[in-house]
This record gives sequence, structure tokens and C-alpha cells, in this order.
Amino acid sequence: MPSEIKKLPDHLINQIAAGEVIERPSSVLKELCENSIDATASKIFIDIERGGMQRIVVRDNGTGIASSQLETALTRHATSKIQQLEDLQHIESLGFRGEALPSIASVARVTLTSNTERNNEAHVLHTEGGNNEPLKPAAHAKGTSIDVHDIFFNTPARRKFLRTEKTEFSHCEQVVKRLALVNFHVSFELRHNQKTLLVLPVAASYEDKLQRLEKILGKNFVEHAIKVEREAGNIKLWGWVAAPDFSRVQADYQYQYVNRRHIRDKTISHAVKLAYQDVLYHGRHPAYVLYLDIDPAEVDVNAHPAKHEVRFHNTRTIHDYVRQTVKQALGDVRAAPIDSRNMDKLTRYTSQQPAIQGQLATHYTPPSKTATLSVDEYKALYASPTQRSSDQSLPIERIPVPHIPAASTSEQTIPLLGYAIAQLHGIYILAQNEHGLVLVDMHAAHERVVYEQLKQQSSTAQRECQQLLVPVQLNVSASEARLVEDQKSQFESLGFDLDRLGDSAVIVRAIPQILSHSDISQLLRDVISDIEKNHARARLDEFHNELLSSFACHGSVRANRELNVHEMNALLRDMESTERSNQCNHGRPTWIQLSINDLDKLFMRGR
Ligand SMILES: Nc1ncnc2c1ncn2[C@@H]1O[C@H](COP(=O)(O)OP(=O)(O)OP(=O)(O)O)[C@@H](O)[C@H]1O
Ligand SMILES: [Mg+2]
Repeated sequence: MPSEIKKLPDHLINQIAAGEVIERPSSVLKELCENSIDATASKIFIDIERGGMQRIVVRDNGTGIASSQLETALTRHATSKIQQLEDLQHIESLGFRGEALPSIASVARVTLTSNTERNNEAHVLHTEGGNNEPLKPAAHAKGTSIDVHDIFFNTPARRKFLRTEKTEFSHCEQVVKRLALVNFHVSFELRHNQKTLLVLPVAASYEDKLQRLEKILGKNFVEHAIKVEREAGNIKLWGWVAAPDFSRVQADYQYQYVNRRHIRDKTISHAVKLAYQDVLYHGRHPAYVLYLDIDPAEVDVNAHPAKHEVRFHNTRTIHDYVRQTVKQALGDVRAAPIDSRNMDKLTRYTSQQPAIQGQLATHYTPPSKTATLSVDEYKALYASPTQRSSDQSLPIERIPVPHIPAASTSEQTIPLLGYAIAQLHGIYILAQNEHGLVLVDMHAAHERVVYEQLKQQSSTAQRECQQLLVPVQLNVSASEARLVEDQKSQFESLGFDLDRLGDSAVIVRAIPQILSHSDISQLLRDVISDIEKNHARARLDEFHNELLSSFACHGSVRANRELNVHEMNALLRDMESTERSNQCNHGRPTWIQLSINDLDKLFMRGR
């Protein structure tokens, strides 16, 4: 073991540093493109060979590097972006360390050609293994080209970790997509093995941005995207979140940016996850592109060697802001035609716009007599079959369905989900609105309505509960009785008044109004057994939600229950006024629209 302490040669220092900055070809590409963006380029051309392992060329039309500075650009800790420590606190450029180019040059063969407008004469510098060749004049328009060959040619340990050409290229492609999703003012062209794969012109207008979004994330994402935009003080969150029926098996469609820098941040991911909590099927991941713009002094960008992470000074504020904004955006999407989830929908939510509720209130006035409910009729809704008196179960034919002219244009009073016409196989409600046919999954829709109402109830001090004339006594297992005793306050928060009675019984004195038509013994038995089964697994903060979901599920109309037209219409009206009513609690759609056009197509009418 040598005992003498010696300073390492510069080239080796650079190679060691490169280990942190340059992990694979895509890291080279990221650093080069970020430099082009910092140099205010409006055009970036990328040419890759063999997944970037053989060659990566990035050409831009940015400010360029003066010939006298080419060597300096390749020197470690040399940067034009900061000069003193304070600059780091309000950094707006992507680079600031002066490490990228020397790191790349220490692990690859690099040719740097550049031209600034001022001297209007391009120069080229070739460097290999830490040795710079003499500068030579070259031909190059204003801007810079960097040609990186044979990555890791001199660091075999790193080369061994490279994967297949396909994998390495997909990392490179991901880098371009991430940058293109935020730098709408820059055009990108990507070539791989002499083939042009992506051409993205500058996206100036909102429609152009959507087109770019579509090229990168696909049509399906854009069709399900809900626009988010909220600004308060010096925090702004904008971008798009996908409606819950466009969820992913993996967390691969989650793009987060802070001050236009792509990052991966646990605070943001967690906040978005919470915002989707009630609407996403278990185990699925939401899709989104979100940009957070905050005062640069509020965030430390120097928190990760490859700049993939940042540190917020006030994590709590950011978390709450993101969660509330996304939740509100998702909540504002109430009943809305599935087939119009396109451009309309994308402009549906901005914080300045009135919520959909407001729009419904102005466009919707109660329908004609046939479908209007009296208070008593309304109260009788969702009554279980045993509770319904025979005259409430009117045969469908006896209730006339209002005539709705197709594609009506006048200031109609037709509700969004129209009027019920029939029930299909005890599962679906068929209704007609001005566009055509509406199909509703009865149980899923009612589950959401009950869930939202219970949730609202539990968050307000005033609970709408109904005292039972005769308290109900339930026999349960000893462990279930214990559970009720332990979680009494949770039940109370929903509007229940219940207590453990002896070893294995429970007494119920009051129930939430919304569940007043359920078979209460059966409902409680189902919920308590459900909760008991899952209780051990659930964390404390999840318990409340589990309780809510379980009540919503067991307290909502079951398949095969015959509903009369009044009941069906009442459910449609409830859906229209309930947040997130497009999806059931597991993220599945609750209803779909089949327009007359869609139906005509099915029957090949008019062809
Ligand atoms: N495409 C380019 N156009 C103009 N100038 C460039 C370009 N690429 C690099 N430079 C100049 O070279 C300098 C060194 O680049 P390098 O990427 O090594 O460091 P940086 O961008 O300052 O910081 P970081 O290491 O965080 O990326 C930059 O500060 C910039 O002045
Ligand atoms: Mg840089």
C-alpha cells in the first residue's frame, strides 16, 4: 500500500467526477441539450448512432462559444453561468457547475465546433483522453456543435454497464421528450442511425403545445388531459393531469418540472398521488405533466450530482399547493360527455373559470313535470325493494319520458345526463339526452355519489343524521365489537351513533341521513366485517378512507335491483351535482355517451 499522499492528475479527477455526472449516453445528451437551451438556442438538432454509445451529435443555433474560450469550456469548474455563491440562490439556467463538458471530454472523444456572431468565424477543437489538439478554423453557422464519439472508450468498467442499443436509445429519447415537454420555444429534431424519428417545431400557441404533447405522450393522453393552472402569490402550478380513466400500470407518464427543470421529486409525486386517491383504481399510477414555477430563492437546485432532484425550503407549502390544485382540477370534472373529451375538456379547468357546478346551475333548470320529483318522492329514493311501497315501483311504461329533440340547439333545460328511459339487466340505466344515448353503471355511479356525500359530511361539523326510533342491536364477533369500540370516533365522524354492547354486540342509535334507506343491520354487518378483514393492513390515515369506501360500496344500489324511472332520474341528477362523478371510487367510468352519430355508424346509416 503506497504511503505517500499525492494530488491526482487533472484528467483522472475529471474521470472520477464524470462517474457522477455521466452515467450513460443519455446523460451526455442531457448535458449537451441543456447547454444549448442555456445558450438560448431556438433550434436543436440531435443525431445519434447506436443508442448513443457510438456517437451523439448536438447542434444548436445558440449564442456560440468564442474561439478563445473553447479550451476554457472544457476545463473543470469553468462556467459562464454563475460567479459567486449568491448566484446559486437565484439560478435560472440549467447548468451552473462547469462540470459537464470536462466530464464528457474525459470519457469520450469530443469535437467542439462553435461560432459566435461577433467574430463570425468558426473554430473547432478536438480533444481525446484529456489532450486537446490545436484549434483549427472551421465552417459553422452561428451556434455550437458538439460531436461525442465512443463513450467510455477509456473507462471499460463503465462500458460494461451499458445495456443494449435499444435500451440506451430509449433513455436518450426520454431525455429529448423531457426537454421538449418544457421548452416549447425550441424546435427539436431527433435522428437515430440515419433515421429521423421526431420532429417538433416551435410550439407557440396553446394548440401547438397540445400537438407537441400529443406527439410525445400520444393522442390518448391528450384526449384525457385536464388543464391545470393556478397562481397564488409567487407559486404557479400549471400543466395537464390525465382523467383517472387514463391511468398507467407504471409511473412512467409523470413529468415534473420545477422552474423549467425536469426533476423527480417525492413531495410532488406524493401530493399528486393524494389528489388522485379517491379516483384511481388501486395499484394504478396517474399520468401528468406538471410545471411548478416558484421563486428561485425558495429552492436549492444544487442537491443532486446529476441535478435530478431539488430541495424545497418549504416542503409543506409545496405539497399542499400541488395536492389542492390537482384535486380541484380532478374534482371539477363532473358528469361530462365521454365523447367530447377533447379540446373542450382541455380548457375546462383553470382556477379563473367558474367550476362546472356553476355552469350546470346556469344551464340546468328542473325538467318538465314528468321528471321533476316532489320532496316526498325524492326522499323515497334508493329505498330498498322491501321498503318501497308497490305504488312507488311504477312500471316503466306508465311514466312518460319527455321528448328530447336530437341535437337541440335552443336554450334547453335538458340536463347533461338526460332522462332515464329504462334499466338494462338490473345493471345499467339507459337515458337519453340531446346527443343520444347515455349508459350509466348504476352501482358504480351511486357508489360515488354516496362516497362524496359521506366524505363531505365527515369534513363538516354539522352532520345530517337520523335518529332511529328503535335502536338497532347487532350481533357481531367479539373482535368486531372491539373494533367498533376502538373506532367509535371514526363512525361518529360519518354521522353514526353506536356503541359496543357487551362482548359481542353493537347498538346503533343514529345513522347518516344518506344511508337512511339502507337495510342498516345488513349494511353495518358488511362494513364491519370488511373493515375488520383489512384493518390490520391499513395505516391509521387510510382507515377513514376505507370506512368511507366500504359504506359507499355496501350502501349503494346493488346490481339486479329494479329502479323506477324516478329513482333513476334522481341518480342522474345526483351525479350531475357530484364531484368526480365520472369515475367510480376505483377509477372506472360510471357512464358513457353514445351519440346519435355513433349509433348511426353502428348501423351504417347514411352511408
Ligand atoms: N452549446 C453551447 N452554446 C454556448 N455555450 C456553451 C454551450 N455548451 C457549453 N457552453 C459554455 O461552456 C461552459 C461549460 O459548459 P458545461 O456544461 O461544462 O458547464 P455549465 O453548463 O456551466 O454547468 P453544468 O456542469 O452544470 O452543466 C458553459 O458555462 C457555457 O458558457
Ligand atoms: Mg452544462
